[in-house]
Amino acid sequence: MDAKHEALVAAARAAMERSHSPYSGFSVGAALLGEDGRIYTGTNVENASFGLSMCAERTAVFKAVSEGCTAFAACAVATATDAPTPPCGACRQVLAEFGLDMVILLAGLDDTVEVHTLRDLLPRPFVTFSSGGDA
Ligand code: THU
Repeated sequence: MDAKHEALVAAARAAMERSHSPYSGFSVGAALLGEDGRIYTGTNVENASFGLSMCAERTAVFKAVSEGCTAFAACAVATATDAPTPPCGACRQVLAEFGLDMVILLAGLDDTVEVHTLRDLLPRPFVTFSSGGDA
């Protein structure tokens, strides 16, 4: 892993520490590397009305887009599990809006970081002309 990816994983792990997940007890952090060079983080935010909860990856995407960044080189996802945990289907779809070549870094509690592309994690995606996905 290069220094940029190391920093992205560290940012995802820091975001994971800010997880609001009193119902599941499952902490997740995400960090997007924008083509503008900035890192946009997100964590999962749960609610007493469970269905209103939001995943870490989508929190990060919505923050970044709201701040004007819509192109991403990579997304790191950190979970407090022994093995790395890949993003849920909904988050894969939302990430795919911004390009299937995005590198996805998955980090659990140990030092192992899995490296994928979104294209590998979301075969046969639903994309349209206007979305970033080039299926
Ligand atoms: N979660 C994420 O933050 N990202 C995913 O990709 C899958 C699941 C969160 C949602 C919920 O707060 C907790 O993990 C358990 O499902």
